[in-house]
Amino acid sequence: MEGTCALILAAGRGERFGRAGGKLWSLVGGVPVWGWAVRAFQEHPEVDHIVLVGREQELPRLRAQTEPLDKVVAVVRGGRERWESVHLGLEAVPAQDRWVLVHDAARAAVSSGLISRVLHATRQTGAAIPALRVPDTVKWVNAAGVVQQTLPRERHAGGETWQLMAVQTPQGFAVDILREAYQRYDFREGAPTDDAMLVERFYPVSVVPGDPGNIKLTYPEDLARLEAILLEGGETRTGFGYDVHPFAEGRRLMLGGIHIPAPRGLAGHSDADVVLHAITDALLGAAGMDDIGTHFPNTDPAYRDADSAELLRLAWARIREGGWGLVNVDVTVLAETPRLRPHVPAMRERIASVLQVDVDRVNIKATTSERMGFIGREEGIACYAIATLRR
Ligand code: CTP
Ligand code: MG
Repeated sequence: MEGTCALILAAGRGERFGRAGGKLWSLVGGVPVWGWAVRAFQEHPEVDHIVLVGREQELPRLRAQTEPLDKVVAVVRGGRERWESVHLGLEAVPAQDRWVLVHDAARAAVSSGLISRVLHATRQTGAAIPALRVPDTVKWVNAAGVVQQTLPRERHAGGETWQLMAVQTPQGFAVDILREAYQRYDFREGAPTDDAMLVERFYPVSVVPGDPGNIKLTYPEDLARLEAILLEGGETRTGFGYDVHPFAEGRRLMLGGIHIPAPRGLAGHSDADVVLHAITDALLGAAGMDDIGTHFPNTDPAYRDADSAELLRLAWARIREGGWGLVNVDVTVLAETPRLRPHVPAMRERIASVLQVDVDRVNIKATTSERMGFIGREEGIACYAIATLRR
């Protein structure tokens, strides 16, 4: 048999990314980063099987979410180092597969064209990797920040010229060759940082052109670029939301999901958080999914004094099922009193955490009504929100 198996690595700790939840679980268009990588191989016509390597404690979640994908034959535990994860994953590659494509789940934007390019070269030569010429000059720098040495970008050896290149994944190998490489490599020499490193010392590894869009999510600032690449050409929609509630004695004032110290709160069936209601309507509106009242009728006793943050979370989960991701939401709250400015950062944090997005995607502005109209007479609080989604 000439089958092909993708071995996808998702067992890293994401330390350089450093955000809670881990980089591979960051959502792009409602899909976790690792899911994009898996999907690229699931949809590729020349890939027969997928082995996914994950962290022990995440295996149940990974298994549940890959359940519908027919090519995923195993979801196995990884190791402390990347090469250990590859080694463990190799054991789960089906016996009938002759070719293996080792891929970092953090390279979520891998294209079908790149997979084909690597696979075709692998079938011809036994080992092939994608690489790009390094445009920068690369230097060794010591701990004090002083340059020690410069790596030449070109080298002349035996009458030919060598180029310094940066390599990517997927890296393709005949399964036998990669297994043999693992047996031969002396790990006391140091941990290999890619798979070709094990193979290249005893077998020629050929190079195919890499893809500049095939970036690896490593640092937090990479996420916006990855998102732009993944969602490029995706559909963008905007929605609008408005809500107003009158003041009422004896109620806690809840705005933007936080409690704001004030003599009066707002009357309403739920906790009357006008900010969260306006945002929920803006998001539902952008997705073409009616409004908050349709999803959570205020005639339903289940929603009496409901936590609006919970309703927003539920609505957002339904919206995300449609493949939507948040570009941004912008809010204007109209209140004569109390003064809201000091509470804006906490509201933004809270809303961003409910929506699981970066705080810079949630903006809040507060204004008075210059003592005019019902807002000016301190009869209530109103809120406008506008949201942009992309899928
Ligand atoms: N990986 C893995 N097992 C490990 C280490 C890494 O499966 N023990 C995977 C990562 O999940 C990632 C890929 O290998 O998809 C490339 O590794 P890297 O980008 O370095 O990710 P992390 O190791 O998770 O990040 P960091 O080095 O910042 O901790
Ligand atoms: Mg790492």
